Amino acid sequence: MNPLKWIKRREAYVRQREQWMQDLMTAGQVEEGRRKFMKMAALAAGAAAGASFVPHSFTLVDVVNANTQVGQQPFTFAYISDSHLYEKTLNERFVRQLERAVADVNALDPQPDFILYGGDLAQLGQPSELKLGQQILKELKAPVKMMVGEHDWFFDLGDLWKEMFGAPYYSFDHKGTHFVTLMSVNEKDFWTAKKLTPMQRMQIVAGLDDGRQSRFEVGEEEREWLRRDLAKVPKTTPLVVFSHSPLYKYYRDWNFWTEDAEPIQALLHPFKSVTVIHGHTHQVLTNRIGNIHFHGMLSTAWPWPYAPTGLPRLTVQMNRPDPFNQTEGMGDGAITVNKSGYVDMRYDMWNRNPLIVSERYLASNGTQDAPPKTTLPSY
Ligand SMILES: [Fe+2]
Ligand SMILES: [Fe+2]
Repeated sequence: MNPLKWIKRREAYVRQREQWMQDLMTAGQVEEGRRKFMKMAALAAGAAAGASFVPHSFTLVDVVNANTQVGQQPFTFAYISDSHLYEKTLNERFVRQLERAVADVNALDPQPDFILYGGDLAQLGQPSELKLGQQILKELKAPVKMMVGEHDWFFDLGDLWKEMFGAPYYSFDHKGTHFVTLMSVNEKDFWTAKKLTPMQRMQIVAGLDDGRQSRFEVGEEEREWLRRDLAKVPKTTPLVVFSHSPLYKYYRDWNFWTEDAEPIQALLHPFKSVTVIHGHTHQVLTNRIGNIHFHGMLSTAWPWPYAPTGLPRLTVQMNRPDPFNQTEGMGDGAITVNKSGYVDMRYDMWNRNPLIVSERYLASNGTQDAPPKTTLPSY
């Protein structure tokens, strides 16, 4: 493109963005602002073909249209994860951040078929924290599927969470895809012999790198349930599995880990297309093991740093250059299930353009459709 033309388009984009920010501030019209942003992101993506200004932004509508052209009935679901709520009187910031994610998802047009909540709704499993989270999530327009995280569980070993949200593991079918939600943060009993209180147990697990806890696992009983559940599903049916911890071994010392990952992967390998979407790691995280594609979700509370070793090769590290920005590295997102059953994962980071880790990127082992990399430092 003629460089002058490009500069003009970029200036137009910046003007529109400024206008959008002003609309948002003055009128408080979050939903309208969000719609305008999505339109602008698409416009800028067109303008930026071959340039690095807004290199990989396209809208939910674009993804849907692209798939419609090949005759598939695509569908999209959204995700919100890892809100780590304290009581409002202790920490209002995390509350506001979850409310922001709810507003983001409610502004999606078209609306997602459902929303997956990825676990760690509470910080220390307190009734006040879980109830506050439930109250905020009730504002979502689309139906919500819940998954449990270790922060929700280890105060009362899931008693209240189950009462509020139902079974901690289950499966369902949606538009030809079989979905499984796992409870992947079971631990071996390290508390009874030591006579620990519920809060001591909770705090040890919440610490992640506290040497007294055991590693996360799905466990034998639930693996047997999974085996029986999958036995009823044809091997050609696309499979999407939700887990809180990644269903592979990333970094043991921080419990970015599932101890029985291998036997679970063995149950998933016979299927034609398998995607695992997990919470817990609070970062853009991408992996592929054989036919299984893995994607980590963003947190609405804080980003974890990347582990010092074990980072999967396909991960394009998210850019977090501003440690003084309170919402740097956080956000929510949406996932499109494609004709093949594999997914395009869209990370809606609050201070960045949307980032898409596509099916094509994983299927080609990173040789095609790579998300933009940055040379800026990340803290
Ligand atoms: Fe978390
Ligand atoms: Fe977690």
